[in-house]
This record gives sequence, C-alpha cells and structure tokens, in this order.
Amino acid sequence: MVAEPVVKTQFYVEMLKQPRAVLAPMAGYTDAPFRRLALEHGAAWTVSEMLLARGFLAGDRQSTELGAPYPGEPNLVLQLFGDDPQVLHDAAAKAEREFAPVAIDLNMGCPAPKLAGRGGACLLQTPERAYELIRAMRQGTSLEVSAKIRLGWDENRSLEVALGLEAAGVALITVHGRTSQQRYTGFADWEAIAKVAQTVQVPVLGCGDVLNVEQYFARLETGVAGVMIGRGAVGNPWIFRQINAVQSGQSGVGTQGVASSSERAQTALRHTQLNIEWYGEFHGIRQLRKVLYKYFPDQPDLHPALKRVNTRSELETVLHNLNISL
Ligand SMILES: Cc1cc2nc3c(=O)[nH]c(=O)nc-3n(C[C@H](O)[C@H](O)[C@H](O)COP(=O)(O)O)c2cc1C
Repeated sequence: MVAEPVVKTQFYVEMLKQPRAVLAPMAGYTDAPFRRLALEHGAAWTVSEMLLARGFLAGDRQSTELGAPYPGEPNLVLQLFGDDPQVLHDAAAKAEREFAPVAIDLNMGCPAPKLAGRGGACLLQTPERAYELIRAMRQGTSLEVSAKIRLGWDENRSLEVALGLEAAGVALITVHGRTSQQRYTGFADWEAIAKVAQTVQVPVLGCGDVLNVEQYFARLETGVAGVMIGRGAVGNPWIFRQINAVQSGQSGVGTQGVASSSERAQTALRHTQLNIEWYGEFHGIRQLRKVLYKYFPDQPDLHPALKRVNTRSELETVLHNLNISL
C-alpha cells in the first residue's frame, strides 16, 4: 500500500484566508515577464503557461524555458500537461527541485486538437485517469497539487470530476466555466462554477470572462474562494491593483477610476523592458506585438504601428503621439 503523501507547504490554504485575484495560465502570454508584471500590480499568485511534462522531463529546451522562473520569482504555480502517471510524478518532482514553485497544477482544460489524447481537456472524458495523475503527482512532490478543469468535455460533469479530484487529494480546484467543445465561445457558466464551490470542501477558484473590478466582486458572490483572471489582465495588469484597493477599503467598486494614458504607456514600456531583459530586444519586442496594442484600447489609430514595432525606441516614438511625458 502506498503511504499518504506529506504536503509540507500550505500555500493555497494560507493565501485563501481571504478572496484573491490570481493571474490565469495562458500559453503564449503568462511567461516570466508578464507574471512579474502581474505580481507587481498585485496578483496574489500567477500560473505558468502549461509545460508539456514529457518534454520537460526529457530536458526539451522549449518546454523547460516556458516554465522557467525569473530569479527569485515568488508565488509561481507551475502547470503541467500530460497523461502518464509516471511522467507526471517525475515532472512534479523535477519542477519542485529546479523551479521552486509554490504549488503544482494539472492542466485539465486545454482543448487544442493537436494535443488530443495526450492530456488537457481530454482528461474530462476519462476522469479516473486524472485522479491517477493527481495521486502520482502528490507522490512526486511535497508541494500542494491542484487541478484546473473545464465544466466537462461536451456536457457539464464538473461536480463528479471535482469530487473525484478532491478524493484524489487536490488542494484546490479552478473551474473555467465552459466545456471543452465550447472552447472560448459563449459565456462562462458561473452557476455551474458556484455548484462546484458549494459541493467540495477544498477551495474553488472560478474563471471565465472577468474583465473588470465590478465583475470580479459580482463573481465572488457565487461563493468561490477567488477568481482567476486571464484575458482581462492582458494589457490591463492594474486590474489586480484596482481589486486590491477595493478589497482593502481604499476605494469603492466603480470608483477606482480608469488608468490614465500616461499609466498605460508606462506599463507598456515596463512590460517591454521586462521582455527585452528576458528574450533580448529582437524576440522580446516581436513576442509582445500581440499585447502592446491592448494597452491602448481607446487609441485604435496607434494599433497598426504598435503591431509592427521592432525596437524599444520605435515603440517610444509611437507612444510620443499620445502627447505625454514618458
Ligand atoms: C491564449 C490562451 C492560452 C491559454 N492557455 C492556458 C494554459 O496553458 N493552461 C490553462 O489551464 N488554461 C489556459 N487558458 C485558459 C485560461 O486560463 C482561462 O481559463 C480562460 O481564458 C478563461 O478565463 P478568461 O475569460 O479570464 O480569459 C488559455 C486561454 C487563452 C485565451
């Protein structure tokens, strides 16, 4: 008989003594620079882009770089993707050793067809397999293990799956309120998320379509322990600061104001600087073209130029059109 694993840390339990806003994992977005920016703006913790467990174990450069923390990175949850218990066990152990995250998460929500049958949302069709993976990961690490699910593959099975995950020993469950078949269409079903939160004992984070402070607090009413914010934080990391200001009583919902052009420009430049430090100027700027224009939703005239910038000084030239001091 396998001994019940000892969890040495209580990161989730400690953090969720009050509701929290967390940066959701997003492949292609939640790299080290953006995670750092989100923490600087008050995200309680961040989740890495999903790491293919098999590639990470094999030392594959791309898989490894995706999850690599910046020096001293705090509050990083590392997310693993895969479907083989031994591989997940070993990858969890390696991640704890090499990246020093605060917890390890299992991806049960990625609907990408090119990864079909290898983990992600497919595990919602074979949840017994997911429970096995969680048990294996818990044997491999002394950190808390969590899972991020969708409601189901093509129908809502979230209650059954959440109860199974809880029995397998997860410390937290995040529910993105869509099925895998829905991908990103329609709206997240927060009633379904609320039912999961009411049913299991472990904390549940809700996720889906939270774009502003008002929506964050409305979603907390469903009884979730916190909310993960993904797309709503891209080009808008101060959403975390605004939420924290309301939560600590410094401002009311709806009175925290909008970010000024100057703040938007400064934050876009900070993001750019972090990207350049991490990837070098060439890749750092190119990789950020898909994000830079999102910092300026009210200045569509700048978007074409922002999607074409090659250097930091080109970016500064574009931003000077805003007539602000940088
Ligand atoms: C571009 C993109 C990449 C994503 N990558 C991941 C991922 O690697 N792991 C994961 O669990 N979810 C991933 N998601 C799902 C998000 O974490 C989140 O659940 C979803 O976007 C709904 O939340 P939102 O409306 O706040 O964005 C991704 C979403 C997007 C848009």
